[in-house]
Amino acid sequence: MIVIAGASGFVGGHLVDNLLSAGSDFSCLARSETASNALLSKGCRVVRGDITRPDTLDGILHQGDFVIHLVGILEEKGPATFQTVHVNGTKSLVAEAKRAGVRHFFYQSALGADSGSWSGYLRTKAEAENIVKQSGIPCTIFRPSLIIGPWDGFTRKLADMIKLSPVLPLPGKGEAKFQPVYIKDWLRCIRRVIDDPEGFSGTYEIGGPEYLTYREIVEHLSNAMGYRKPVFSIPMGFVKLGTSVLNRFMPSPLVTTDQLRLLEQDNIGARDAIELNFGFTPKRFDDMLKEFVR
Ligand SMILES: NC(=O)c1ccc[n+]([C@@H]2O[C@H](COP(=O)([O-])OP(=O)(O)OC[C@H]3O[C@@H](n4cnc5c(N)ncnc54)[C@H](OP(=O)(O)O)[C@@H]3O)[C@@H](O)[C@H]2O)c1
Repeated sequence: MIVIAGASGFVGGHLVDNLLSAGSDFSCLARSETASNALLSKGCRVVRGDITRPDTLDGILHQGDFVIHLVGILEEKGPATFQTVHVNGTKSLVAEAKRAGVRHFFYQSALGADSGSWSGYLRTKAEAENIVKQSGIPCTIFRPSLIIGPWDGFTRKLADMIKLSPVLPLPGKGEAKFQPVYIKDWLRCIRRVIDDPEGFSGTYEIGGPEYLTYREIVEHLSNAMGYRKPVFSIPMGFVKLGTSVLNRFMPSPLVTTDQLRLLEQDNIGARDAIELNFGFTPKRFDDMLKEFVR
């Protein structure tokens, strides 16, 4: 049986729909009643559990299961820190997987994961990768760049900003490069892993076929939405100061300083990684947007 942790998120939701339409047998780990009800109403099998609470994971996995671990956070909130979710949570899920004797463990890391990184997100993603690799369970790790598609948080936030603002505000110069990959291409890759786990053991970078700067991403999205607005670059120091003041008054941060720093550094891998490893050419950014941006 395939068991998906993180099924209620953006990537997990697309995977669930894909597996449902293929008639695959799978179940989802849900930590909240809301997530559980939403998955049940789609027709999924659900088990309840929170990866940061090991006691809730007892007995959720079975011998021969294929675990797909998509749980991750972009910002820390209360007890949900990068350490508790990415590192301790992965440790607990891997321990349950070992106890049960699962046949394969898939972990969704991130492009740029590095145990020496200044970014808590990227550092703990690398630590989680090591936990999975050292478990002795046959495993596959994806390191995706920005995943783009309907309901993705990144495009949604940018689209709201493009609609509401008279100009396109850019934190800093927006020159850092990214390699957006379409959710449907990510799905094609994971389907290959599900169909042939032994053939895809190891770590794979998952990125689109082109490098785009943050500025280009904003401009292309704005064009796809039919807006022609001038770009307005705001010095990064000013943005960081402004957000740290604003965040004090917000229930959850608009954007964290870590996220702003991530916008200042390239996040790219080999442009032909998908083609070489999975045998198809992923979509370009403009072609992705044509499929779902109105
Ligand atoms: N989206 C991207 O562009 C991108 C790029 C590279 C890597 N990734 C990685 O891909 C994965 C999925 O990303 P996403 O965009 O789908 O994220 P997302 O929409 O925020 O979904 C995160 C999922 O994790 C679940 N979760 C969070 N804390 C949990 C816990 N303690 N126990 C159990 N489940 C928990 C959430 O469940 P609730 O519904 O209960 O909150 C949700 O289902 C993450 O690991 C992310 O780091 C994403």
